[in-house]
Amino acid sequence: MIHDPAVTDVREQLRKLVREVRHRAYVPYSKHPEAVVLLLSDGSWIPGVRVESASFSLTILPLQNAWTTAVALNRRDVVAVAFSQPPDAGVRAFLEELKLSLLDVSSDLFASQASELPALREPLVPFLDQMPGSSLEGIQLAREVAARALAPYSRFPVGCLLQLENGRCIPGVNVEHPDWTRTLCAERNALGTAISYGIAPSTWRTLFLSCVNDVRGTPCGACRQLLAEHRSDLSVWMDRGLENPPELMRVDLLLPGFFVLQ
Ligand code: THU
Repeated sequence: MIHDPAVTDVREQLRKLVREVRHRAYVPYSKHPEAVVLLLSDGSWIPGVRVESASFSLTILPLQNAWTTAVALNRRDVVAVAFSQPPDAGVRAFLEELKLSLLDVSSDLFASQASELPALREPLVPFLDQMPGSSLEGIQLAREVAARALAPYSRFPVGCLLQLENGRCIPGVNVEHPDWTRTLCAERNALGTAISYGIAPSTWRTLFLSCVNDVRGTPCGACRQLLAEHRSDLSVWMDRGLENPPELMRVDLLLPGFFVLQ
């Protein structure tokens, strides 16, 4: 391989970044923080961390977390993936399913080309441009965001916004996987994005949710559990279709007596 100091530099920068964002991982049970960084074609990048759940099998893995963020932000132009530790066979299989045509450059780095990577820039901004000023506007925006869902198996696109105290909104969509157990819902997508970007749950204000094929749509049990673990008093506005006003609930009322592990 031709030695190109600029390329080596980007790779080293990616490795440094992944070590930094690793500390945002939510790992109270294993105490083993893990992260990935996705490099996009313009040099911007997306972090993804491990988010463990007291309900253990609901744990979100770093690659899944970062990839679902990329889909919700409409940026699938991934040109490299850096891992905080060499991916195991399961994670490699997950990466292959994304069909990003990445080469195995070294044990912790996969890239579209061995010799050329864009210069590293700022992290991709994880917010929508719009800031809804009412519950109806929030629901309308969640409906629009659902168009970004990757739901070829269920054909059940879901969109949500996690609005922060400052009004900014993190989008979430469901991202399906050929292995159905690796599918992630819209709500956990947005939650995983917030944690990967170091946005504290104390700053989360409201979740707007729209299941565009189902006017009675409601968060699934797994999403209720994860939301409750991080912000049990979060308000959730649920789309009730064009004819009816959205319905307001609180996470702890959606999952009374949710499981915690002290
Ligand atoms: N889904 C969500 O995104 N959120 C929910 O709360 C319910 C389910 C997605 C997951 C899957 O892609 C499809 O809807 C059918 O379960």
